[in-house]
Amino acid sequence: PFDDHDEIWLFGYGSLIWKAGFPYHERRPAHIEGWARRFWQGSHDHRGTPESPGRVVTLISEPGAICQGMAYRIDAATLNPLDVRERNGYLRESVTLHFPDSSHAEGLIYLATEDNAAFLGDAPLDAMAEQIANTHGPSGSNRDYLLHLAASLEDLGAEDEHVFALAERVRRL
Ligand code: BEZ
Repeated sequence: PFDDHDEIWLFGYGSLIWKAGFPYHERRPAHIEGWARRFWQGSHDHRGTPESPGRVVTLISEPGAICQGMAYRIDAATLNPLDVRERNGYLRESVTLHFPDSSHAEGLIYLATEDNAAFLGDAPLDAMAEQIANTHGPSGSNRDYLLHLAASLEDLGAEDEHVFALAERVRRL
């Protein structure tokens, strides 16, 4: 659907908030509406292993929800290596990005839906915190991923009850 020289917006709501790892033209805080961030996707390649998967974020459709994150304006060609990096069950979806100055733009997100093999789904917060506190993978500890996300959201002045509740529990473990 894109020519390599098209410029597009990519919205990051997980590790992309603090670590792009690709070239971009512009980076702006943004939010999307109708989506809620949840630690429901399993990670057996980054923040866990096949024997002991970690938990990373995906988005679930939730009317009225707001998810704050970081938008990157990139060349469409930049998506090609990203599609490989973000494999592990994530698909692309089109969304409307809302910027703090009330302007908006169409953009892309990577989303892991419940039909992917690595999907873990909901669990009690204490159980998810236990799992995150005790899991490590090639990209580092699952605990650091969660705490980095929580700190990045605090820097953005963003609200996220789910992430902050998990971070509070993991800090106490
Ligand atoms: C994100 O930060 O938006 C993200 C990172 C990895 C996979 C999917 C999404």
